[in-house]
Amino acid sequence: MNGLDDMVERVTRQCRARMPVGAAHAAGLLLAILASVASVSPPPAQDFSYGRRLYLDKADCSFCHGWAGDGAGQPQSPGRAAKLRQSQLARDPLITVIQCGVPGTAMPRFDDLAYTDKSCYGMIEAELGDRVPPLPHSTSLQSRETEVLVDYLRARVVGRAPITREECFETLGERVRSCAEYPAAR
Ligand code: HEC
Repeated sequence: MNGLDDMVERVTRQCRARMPVGAAHAAGLLLAILASVASVSPPPAQDFSYGRRLYLDKADCSFCHGWAGDGAGQPQSPGRAAKLRQSQLARDPLITVIQCGVPGTAMPRFDDLAYTDKSCYGMIEAELGDRVPPLPHSTSLQSRETEVLVDYLRARVVGRAPITREECFETLGERVRSCAEYPAAR
C-alpha cells in the first residue's frame, strides 16, 4: 500500500463518518425519487460522449495520460502519468484524486477550492507547502463534471484490454488515419 492509497482511504472513511443519519436517510429518499424518475424516462444508455469530451478536450487529461489513458502523454509526462487503464481506484477515490490531485507529483488539482479547507486528504495548502498539486494547464472542473468524467473512465478506460483500432476510432473518430497503427480487435 502506498502513501496515496493510505491518504485516499483515510479521506473516504472521513466522508462516510461525517454524514449524519438524517442526511443518509434523506439521501436514500432522494435516490428512491431519482430511481422512480429514471424508470419513467431512462437516460440514453451508454452515452459517454460528454465525459470523453471532458477528458480529451476541456480538461485535456490526455496531454499527460494519452488519449487512451495508457500513460503515453509524451513528452509532457514520459511514463510518469499513471496508466489509468490499470488503475485500481474505486469511483470515490478516483473523484478525490481528480479534485485534489496527487501531492508532490505533477497530477493537478481540478477543484479550484482544493486545500482551502480540509476536504482534500484532511490537509490545507499551508501544511503541504511545495507539495501542493499544481493547478491544471487546461481548466478546473465542477464536481458534476468530475463525476461524469469518472463515469466515462470507469466505463471506457479503466481495466480495458490493449488498445485496438476500433477503440481508437470510437474515441478519436472514424477519420483518424493513425488509428490504423493499432491492431484490429479479434
Ligand atoms: C500535467 C500532467 C497531468 C494532467 C494534465 C493530468 N494528470 Fe492525472 N496524473 C499525472 C501524474 C504524473 C500522475 C501520477 C502521480 C503519481 O506519481 O502517483 C497522475 C495520476 C492520476 C490518477 C491516479 C491513478 C491511480 O490509479 O493511481 C488519476 C485517476 C488521474 N491522474 C486522472 C487524471 C484525469 C482524469 C485528468 C484530467 C481531468 C488528469 N489526470 C490530468 C499527471 C497528469
